[in-house]
Amino acid sequence: MKKSYFLLIVTAALLGGCASEDHPGYIWYPDMFTSIAWEPLDEAPFGSDSAMRFYPPDGVIPYGSEQITDGYYQYTIPNTPEGYEQARAIKNPLPKTEEVIAKGKQLYEIYCAPCHGTTGEGNGTVVEIGGFPPPPTYYQDRIYALSDGQIFHVITYGKNLMGAFNYQLSPRERWEVVHYIRHLQEQRLKKEGKSLADYQQTHQIDTLKTL
Ligand code: HEC
Repeated sequence: MKKSYFLLIVTAALLGGCASEDHPGYIWYPDMFTSIAWEPLDEAPFGSDSAMRFYPPDGVIPYGSEQITDGYYQYTIPNTPEGYEQARAIKNPLPKTEEVIAKGKQLYEIYCAPCHGTTGEGNGTVVEIGGFPPPPTYYQDRIYALSDGQIFHVITYGKNLMGAFNYQLSPRERWEVVHYIRHLQEQRLKKEGKSLADYQQTHQIDTLKTL
């Protein structure tokens, strides 16, 4: 007798689990089977000030961004000829310190010097021994007249034969390299009794036409 009761219960339990297309059978954990579809910005039912919009924890940096000074730095200017012009207005967010210049020099010598040469004359190793067409020297009107933002833009996206460096160099590192290139130019101009700022003011308008 006891045995047949037992069999009955087991059979009922097993049959209860049988499902067909119209009948899902007995659901043991309904919460998991039919979970509530919360909308992203709904009020959440738990806690008075809780909403479905959860805020990221402090210190989280959005993808593709970097904390350079205050807030997040994200370069959104597109890789187009108009973008190159727009970049003219972008200023270097990094303060120019000796440390930054030293870091820029280190990165420059790894990533840029093989083509541009350690002094920026456009005579790097690949040019001297590899037959690569020489890049423009940094010591000419057109490059003096570029803004820091335009140099950053070119490092980010590349230009013609020069490849993009946005994968190898973070935004902060690119700005460090920009400071270093400016430092090289300023040192050269200083020897001639000039300064980059004066140079940019007098040459900017003429050079804009030929960019
Ligand atoms: C593979 C060789 C190569 C490497 C590596 C390279 N460049 Fe260049 N770069 C070039 C060439 C070639 C040009 C000329 C592009 C043109 O105007 O056609 C150029 C142009 C430039 C210009 C002038 C941009 C303009 O608007 O006319 C700057 C500034 C510059 N490079 C900076 C850098 C920096 C900084 C790095 C390192 C992060 C770097 N380059 C790495 C080959 C290179």
